[in-house]
Amino acid sequence: MTETAHKMSARGVSVFYGDKQAVKDVSIDIDMDKVTAFIGPSGCGKSTFLRTLNRMNDTIASARVTGDIMLDGENIYSSAMDVVQLRARVGMVFQKPNPFPKSIFENVAYGPRIHGLAASKPELEAIVERSLKRAGLWEEVKDRLQDSGTALSGGQQQRLCIARAIAVDPEVILMDEPASALDPIATAKIEELIHELRGRYAIAIVTHNMQQAARVSQRTAFFHLGTLVEYGETDQIFTTPREERTKDYITGRYG
Ligand SMILES: Nc1ncnc2c1ncn2[C@@H]1O[C@H](COP(=O)(O)OP(=O)(O)OP(=O)(O)O)[C@@H](O)[C@H]1O
Ligand SMILES: [Mg+2]
Repeated sequence: MTETAHKMSARGVSVFYGDKQAVKDVSIDIDMDKVTAFIGPSGCGKSTFLRTLNRMNDTIASARVTGDIMLDGENIYSSAMDVVQLRARVGMVFQKPNPFPKSIFENVAYGPRIHGLAASKPELEAIVERSLKRAGLWEEVKDRLQDSGTALSGGQQQRLCIARAIAVDPEVILMDEPASALDPIATAKIEELIHELRGRYAIAIVTHNMQQAARVSQRTAFFHLGTLVEYGETDQIFTTPREERTKDYITGRYG
């Protein structure tokens, strides 16, 4: 298979904060129609690596990334890459829901507006409705689109953030522990949503919850101390891990 067959591929990626190396020589592929879960103990570099995939580490002054990360075969760290465009193509959802202190409508409309995706108000309204529907939030908010996004429940806010990411028509969605601040019912909704979104986007998700990784992902990457210890089909990782360290982690022996 050629490199361009993957939606994204990372090759030999390392990340340094000052002279401390947080991610060591990681190679991984992110594909369409698949959810890739990143698991591993706290501090092993999951978030740091995830952030390399849309250059979020650019915002951290001490961070330095080496290696290659391709999106449709194009190096995202090349000078020709427009970072604003990149972050629309590779969207991100964070652990703590972070809606703008604006209306529900504006939270979703903002991205399409600045990226010029709608030629008219009705078109913009259609994008907002479609995005909220895909995020499984439309029925709950369609009669209160002018209410503040921050007035929603935590789970609703997280789905609003997912709608906001979807609104600019991304190809890849990165999620860093998107459900860890939510109760079990809201978490189940997010998991269901990830399942539905999988057909349309390539998804990478960081999670501390082993059951969640097993439920939502098709591929799992186990990180430990900045290295990618094992990477493969989720079923294989959870039933017959090749590495002792993977086995210890998924059986709860450390972490
Ligand atoms: N902004 C930063 N400046 C300096 N060091 C950092 C920074 N962010 C993370 N680190 C360090 O890099 C290493 C990896 O951190 P990272 O946040 O990627 O881990 P993680 O696997 O996401 O952990 P957790 O599960 O706790 O979220 C840690 O040693 C951490 O202290
Ligand atoms: Mg993290």
